[in-house]
Amino acid sequence: MGLLLPLLLLPLTTTALTLPVNTTLLHPWQITRLSTHSPSGRPGTHPYSRLSFAIADPNTIVLSGPTPGSSGNDVGFPPSAANCTVWWMTHGEDPREGGWENTCEENLAEGMRGKWSFRVVEGSGEAGRGVTTDFGLSVTLEEAVVLGTGGVVSLKFEGEAAFKVGAGEEGNMGGSCGGSGVCNWGLKQESVPVLVKQTLVGMECVTGTCEEE
Ligand SMILES: *[C@@H]1O[C@H](CO)[C@@H](O)[C@H](O)[C@H]1NC(C)=O
Ligand SMILES: *[C@@H]1O[C@H](CO)[C@@H](O)[C@H](O)[C@H]1NC(C)=O
Repeated sequence: MGLLLPLLLLPLTTTALTLPVNTTLLHPWQITRLSTHSPSGRPGTHPYSRLSFAIADPNTIVLSGPTPGSSGNDVGFPPSAANCTVWWMTHGEDPREGGWENTCEENLAEGMRGKWSFRVVEGSGEAGRGVTTDFGLSVTLEEAVVLGTGGVVSLKFEGEAAFKVGAGEEGNMGGSCGGSGVCNWGLKQESVPVLVKQTLVGMECVTGTCEEE
């Protein structure tokens, strides 16, 4: 209980910022890999389904404006990438119904450059609403950096994309189901990368001084 109060109070002490981030210049995120799997349901098998994808933000965002105490050194947000996966029990709640917020895994060799997370949402519905064959992804990237003043700026971006199995231009995914009932779907080669237009939904000074007085 002791920890709860400070955490709840934290948002009240943050400040909305007007740092110069020109989002019209941002390149969209890229989904470079995506696949889904559903099991056969045969005796002795394990009835788990899976959805996984790789996403990258190619942008370097430099806070080159009036960031106090920066003494000429630009600070900002480098490109980052992550692998994202969700598993679920096929005969239980699916990730859309659960509304689960799933955390992605970054390449830690490059250092932690942001926190990627995603939810599986409804897709177009045109290919039958199957959670492995017709769905959407709502992806969030939160990035934070320490300024020369010791102040901490955090940015939050969101983007959405839709995926569905279909022939020709009808769908961006293809694949097949085996005789056993196992199905594997993935992005068609010509659909790679899927571009995801991100929106800056939040920018705050989490602690300290982030702007010139
Ligand atoms: C952002 O960049 C675009 C493209 O260069 C430019 O047209 C626009 O005026 C810029 N916006 C701001 C707020 O600087
Ligand atoms: C994602 O997974 C692939 C295959 O395992 C790996 O090569 C790549 O480095 C991973 N990317 C990140 C950002 O972790």
